[in-house]
Amino acid sequence: MSSGKPAVRLALLGCGTVGSEVVRLLHDQAEDLTARIGAPLEVVGVAVRRLGRERGNLPIDPALFTTDALGLVKRDDVDVIIEVVGGIEPARTWLTEALRAGKSVVTANKALLAEDGASLHDAAAEGGADLYYEASVAGAIPLLRPLRESLHGDRVTRVTGIVNGTTNFILSSMDATGAGFGEALEEATELGYAEADPTADVEGFDAAAKAAILASLAFHTRVTAADVFREGMTGVTAADIASAKEMGCTIKLLCIAQRGPDSTGQESVSVRVHPAMIPRSHPLAGVGDAFNAVFVEAEAAGPLMFYGRGAGGTPTASAVLGDIVAAARNRLSGTRAPSESSYAHLPIRPIGEAVTRYHISLDVADKQGVLASVAGVFADNEVSIATVRQSGRDEDATLVIVTHGAPDANLHATVEDLRALPIVRSIASVLRVEGGS
Ligand code: HSE
Repeated sequence: MSSGKPAVRLALLGCGTVGSEVVRLLHDQAEDLTARIGAPLEVVGVAVRRLGRERGNLPIDPALFTTDALGLVKRDDVDVIIEVVGGIEPARTWLTEALRAGKSVVTANKALLAEDGASLHDAAAEGGADLYYEASVAGAIPLLRPLRESLHGDRVTRVTGIVNGTTNFILSSMDATGAGFGEALEEATELGYAEADPTADVEGFDAAAKAAILASLAFHTRVTAADVFREGMTGVTAADIASAKEMGCTIKLLCIAQRGPDSTGQESVSVRVHPAMIPRSHPLAGVGDAFNAVFVEAEAAGPLMFYGRGAGGTPTASAVLGDIVAAARNRLSGTRAPSESSYAHLPIRPIGEAVTRYHISLDVADKQGVLASVAGVFADNEVSIATVRQSGRDEDATLVIVTHGAPDANLHATVEDLRALPIVRSIASVLRVEGGS
């Protein structure tokens, strides 16, 4: 379809799993995209690490490939830079250069946005340029635009998400089969969900980067990955899963971003990533396989749920394409995307002040006064017990205690004091509980 208007010219940095799908979708949907934008999109260059790799099946002129990414970024005839390489450098240099020069940027780079989004936003402001990054969190799920635009008339109070597909696959598999972490990780690796080095996923680094991006948008405050409390899920055992089941719960690796008053009454933000038990009736409990979902609570809107594929070339390319269309339309109409909103400058509350609940499983001697001593430790730390379950084995007993909500520092101190108690033989597991009353 001819629009009569000159093309919006795109440069792609990276042509791996996501980049090659972006190229394919730009080609396959060219006619519709032209109609929607009002001008054609034209790829004028694709920066790759090495030339000569087999990319013959891509619908693009091989002469467009280059290893000179910075040269591509600096070209005067490029309107939109699309970055799907990832990592901090050289991506930061490329994108700040592009934004300062007034070029629109579409990126999927969660690590860069979470570590130094400020540099990118500042460069965008300097150059009067668009910065779009829908694909950086939860792949195909339209999530950042709702937070950045649709919910800007509301006050978001809490964001609770499953934003890592690999760990959700592992925990869903453990829940379904009773397998241990190692076995479930092996299955995830065999099926291609987990990477050869799964550290970023299972230790929660990937989810923490996404949590920082979500919290920044939800609370109009700059939040970096360093502000996020992070605990991985490698310690979750088959026994934890079984215990969760007995309570009508399942275990998920959650990112939780919340605003509210701190201990002095000042409005603040807490952001954390850790495994947690959630009731099976919670909307996030049914999110299985490698799917992602994010549950947003806002004062006027109430609860909202966003669900879909959080990874994979084609789903992630869908989010990238949506951003390309938005950036291209803005260029044609001479308008801009909403700029960064960080006016609230809310302080970050430490994990110790986050109110949560604990599920503690401990092995004790089964004799008179033990329960009273254990209960005393909770009382001394101002933690209220919600339920206690005891199962006996000869002279030993296992106590499973679930608390009411209390500051994490008090709960942590309770566990440490229990550990020091002579009648406590061992603490088998400690897990946070979310989503209940
Ligand atoms: N490794 C991530 C996941 C996808 O398992 O969800 C990219 O963020």
